[in-house]
Amino acid sequence: MNVATVRVPAKINLCLGVGPVREDGYHPLATVYQAVGLHDEVRATSRADDEINVVVNSELDVRSELATVPEDDNNLAVKAAKLLRDHTGFVGGVDLAIRKVIPVAGGMAGGSADAAASLVACNDAWGTGLGRADLEFLAAKLGSDVPFLLHGGNAVGGGRGETISPVLARGSYHWVFAIAAEGLSTAAVYAEFDRLNADGKVPEPKVPDALLAALRAGDADALGDALSNDLTEAALSLRPELQDTLEVGIEAGALGAILSGSGPTAMFLASDEQHSLDIAFALTSAAACADVVQSHGPVPGARLA
Ligand code: C5P
Repeated sequence: MNVATVRVPAKINLCLGVGPVREDGYHPLATVYQAVGLHDEVRATSRADDEINVVVNSELDVRSELATVPEDDNNLAVKAAKLLRDHTGFVGGVDLAIRKVIPVAGGMAGGSADAAASLVACNDAWGTGLGRADLEFLAAKLGSDVPFLLHGGNAVGGGRGETISPVLARGSYHWVFAIAAEGLSTAAVYAEFDRLNADGKVPEPKVPDALLAALRAGDADALGDALSNDLTEAALSLRPELQDTLEVGIEAGALGAILSGSGPTAMFLASDEQHSLDIAFALTSAAACADVVQSHGPVPGARLA
């Protein structure tokens, strides 16, 4: 019996350009990912038989009632373990234990993070010895965000999000996250995006030059101005009250305020630790969301703890 524990971060999208829906139902993306310091943990304990089990616990009471994370074969961490086993021909099973901190259905890729962590943890516990390139290949089959969560740091995402390439970036950024009481389905937000754009022509997405320049310079003010998210209208259409949450952070002087991915988590860029505290305080006082978390990025991707 071997045990491996992996810590994996959440992701945000500094920009999220979304193109016209493809024939396979996915949307072409032009995004810049950043990994941020909210971590899930996945522990893999190998089994001699061929069972693959999962248990999930969340330490965050405010979100525990939305504990909709499946504890069966629909769990992405289980899918990841199965994919690794099929790919390598390994004979054996695993018990997976997930400690959730990343909000569920929050637009921060919590499920994808657990899949990335499960790949790394099982690869270690089973001694299957796959290298980074093979793990990234499997990650792309599991979900659009999974390859980035192996990688971490900052990266440009293309394709449906699964092709990642390096970006020149410096600086560490202070973020405040306003977490909603109830998650939003990513698929539902993309469907709303299609509905809202049914008549118009959606242009091919592009990463804004101003965003790349801000990251190259490590300029938080410029980065705040350059944050963008093409899913904003769709997410606000499904959850109009998120506009109020964004406004509370803007009034508190956030350098930038957008939804994280498909939402409903709202993210605010602060200039330093004190500013981050001020924004968090404003959000809490206004009861603008269910929970407020201060964090920073970039941080590394899925790693053995
Ligand atoms: O890739 P992943 O399984 O995380 O995507 C979840 C859902 O989000 C997809 O089923 C699809 O409806 C939507 N999606 C999309 N275009 C993308 C990524 C995700 O339409 N680029």
